[in-house]
Amino acid sequence: MQIYLDTANISEIREAASWGILSGVTTNPTLIAREKGADFKSVIGEIAELVDGPISAEAVSLDGEGMVKEGLEFAAWHPNVIVKVPCTTEGLKAVYQLAKQGIRTNVTLIFNASQALLSARAGAFIVSPFVGRVDDTGVDGMQLIREISQIYKGDSEIKTKIISASIRHPRHIIDSALAGADIATCPFKVLQMSMRHPLTDRGIEQFLADWKARG
Ligand code: E4P
Repeated sequence: MQIYLDTANISEIREAASWGILSGVTTNPTLIAREKGADFKSVIGEIAELVDGPISAEAVSLDGEGMVKEGLEFAAWHPNVIVKVPCTTEGLKAVYQLAKQGIRTNVTLIFNASQALLSARAGAFIVSPFVGRVDDTGVDGMQLIREISQIYKGDSEIKTKIISASIRHPRHIIDSALAGADIATCPFKVLQMSMRHPLTDRGIEQFLADWKARG
């Protein structure tokens, strides 16, 4: 399973890219807005210089035509740009039209398997089921990944990839891999948490203490 970073923060992307683990980046309007005053196109350009992989840029139009217009603009910024559209019927229209022009899409805000099936049928390159937000409703978000994975694997015509999104903690990453996700898109904080273990720290301390005390 590949790891993407779910952020528009350039320092976080630079740091995670230096670990050699990043295969792509996802952004959304909230994440872009968090980088106060940053110009959308410039942010995507800076990310493309740091990460050689898909970078999702999200349209804000609600109608299919508007999404296609935005999508064509984003796709012209860099060949790695993936146009993110919401999982609505207008979003499906945009996916269908953009796919015909060879432009890859990420259908976001997926909360059930039928949305994922229809998005794949329309020609989505990736779908983004929101595991953490499903968990927040008291339903097992990971079951959504299992269902989509089973449906896609059983249909040889579907090439759409599954990004496990709305990741909240390290266990979500592991469970996403076990449930059949192709990618997990993670906040930087969760990647940092994934690499921490008190026994690793204690082991390093002990090794250093023994090294210093050697005869
Ligand atoms: C996915 O691409 C979204 O950007 C993201 O995972 C949303 O996560 P949240 O529920 O933490 O906002």
